Amino acid sequence: MAEWRSVSPNRELDSNSKVTEDADSRSKSEEHFYDVHIFHCTNERPATHKRGSCVAKGSKELCDYMCRRSMALGLKRIRVNHAGCLNRCELGPTMVIYPEGVWYTYTCEADIDEILKIHVMRGKRVERLLLKPDQGPRH
Ligand code: FES
Repeated sequence: MAEWRSVSPNRELDSNSKVTEDADSRSKSEEHFYDVHIFHCTNERPATHKRGSCVAKGSKELCDYMCRRSMALGLKRIRVNHAGCLNRCELGPTMVIYPEGVWYTYTCEADIDEILKIHVMRGKRVERLLLKPDQGPRH
């Protein structure tokens, strides 16, 4: 399995929260088109559906927010996509980040900012938002 690297392993945010360039940031894995590929469930169901849906919990707006923030931060080789149901509806809103396949739940812009800062930019995990493999029903 290839070693995963953050988008900006040695970068620091400057006073305007912009990412500064360095040599390491340009030496990413050649195995992946994107260094970080993020999928947000933006599935929508009727309000009465027993499993609910991530859109009803704000996933579409927060996905768009993450896309805008990643561009504002100047992150490269990252893609933020809307996705269909990721089948962990009860734990949503859900996102999964590849290439590692790390799952998160989130509820607000502050959660998105923390995931970008800690996971994407520093290559670490936001423990409080992680979804573990054994969480939730398997349908
Ligand atoms: S509706 Fe989002 S995981 Fe199913």
